[in-house]
Amino acid sequence: MSEPHSDALVFFGATGDLAYKKIFPALQAMQKRGSLNVPVIGVAKAGWNLDQLKARARDSLEKHGGGVDPNAFAALSSQLRYVDGDYNDPATFAAIRKELGAAKRPAHYLAIPPSLFGLVVEQLAKSDCTRGARVIVEKPFGHDLDSARKLNDILLGTFDEDHIFRIDHYLGKRPVHNMLFFRFTNACLDSFWSREHIESVQITMAEDFGIQGRGAFYDQTGTIRDVIQNHLFQVLANLAMEPPVRTDSESIRDEKVKVLKAIAPIEARNVVRGQFRGYRKEPGVAPDSKIETFAALQLEVGSWRWQGVPFYIRAGKSLPVTSTELVVRLRKPPVVFPTCKPESNYFRFRISPDVTVALGVTAMDTDEQMVGQRAELVASRHPGANEMDAYERVLGDAMVGDRTLFAREDYVEEAWRIVDPVLKQGTPVHEYDPGTWGPREVDAAVAPPGGWQDPVVTR
Ligand code: BG6
Repeated sequence: MSEPHSDALVFFGATGDLAYKKIFPALQAMQKRGSLNVPVIGVAKAGWNLDQLKARARDSLEKHGGGVDPNAFAALSSQLRYVDGDYNDPATFAAIRKELGAAKRPAHYLAIPPSLFGLVVEQLAKSDCTRGARVIVEKPFGHDLDSARKLNDILLGTFDEDHIFRIDHYLGKRPVHNMLFFRFTNACLDSFWSREHIESVQITMAEDFGIQGRGAFYDQTGTIRDVIQNHLFQVLANLAMEPPVRTDSESIRDEKVKVLKAIAPIEARNVVRGQFRGYRKEPGVAPDSKIETFAALQLEVGSWRWQGVPFYIRAGKSLPVTSTELVVRLRKPPVVFPTCKPESNYFRFRISPDVTVALGVTAMDTDEQMVGQRAELVASRHPGANEMDAYERVLGDAMVGDRTLFAREDYVEEAWRIVDPVLKQGTPVHEYDPGTWGPREVDAAVAPPGGWQDPVVTR
């Protein structure tokens, strides 16, 4: 059943970094596609006026939005409003109410720190801005299980779950979405997609840059909270979930939650944390920081399909390349040619920078010694010029009330349940050199049989 379109977008944090890097580009793209014909009300406390916000939007599009599109920008500018004020002050919310005019189904997008959610939601409710409204919230959704529950209580105190949209922008990436489509439209995968044939699964999210001036945020967060508990668990759920019985949002989200429910809390012996040399000198980082900029961990999905198959996840900053990739390694074949030590076939699914689906095989070596050589059958494509960016997709979906690409309450809490105990234990942090694949302890403690397969990126 289709849901009504939101008839206004209010975004809190309008002068902030996220708005600058992601939201304005998404708004222009929506405008170009004709999916943003509603007032857009930016809110912040910066002492700005509307012209300053428009100038900021223009600058954002030049730097991060592929340039200003004159028509789309003109239309966006005419829809843009700005409310400047303190979130403690009821007058700020009275001004928002006034700007909303006759809107009956606004979407409130909280691109602000979670510590402000409670205050803003309360003020919105008091000023009659929440009736018929949706709320869109940014990650990180809490810091641990307890804080995530508290945030859920705050939001659920005012909005129904059906009207809450918890963003994980990874879900808005076409290749992440494509994982499900690809899995459930190709029967050949299903014939080996289980513990009978699969030896291990590994997921790597590598970034060749550091923390990019986000020291104050990152030093409170670390890799596990920043990208593993959310982005990479979503990728894992797409890889491991059962086919949904229907394609509505709840049928899909039910299957994802079941994957997380089958995962036990991660044990300390199955985690290696690392920190790149030089991290502690970054602005905003404590000189004795124990926060990880790299993590490798092992877990098991204890379901009928996956029991006994180890899943490995690693992610880090300042690694040799930027790429997110999954490798599903099959069990080794028996020996037929005594000269050839057979290796595992694997299925490789790359999410970025390009989208690749590849099958790793052994072929006869060129000089016919019958020792075999590795080859890949590869299908690869680069994103098309007209492809939707993740933020355009998730904002657009929230405004039409499609919940599929958002994390549900139970999902978020399950994800925290898995990582919370080991985060609280404070396992050791090992240093690594920038530009390497993390601390050397990883290979001894948390490595798939046959080792990690590092993504290769050709420039
Ligand atoms: C964000 C993290 O959620 O995702 C960043 O906070 C990370 O640390 C980013 O770099 C990766 O997303 P993308 O879309 O840039 O690959």
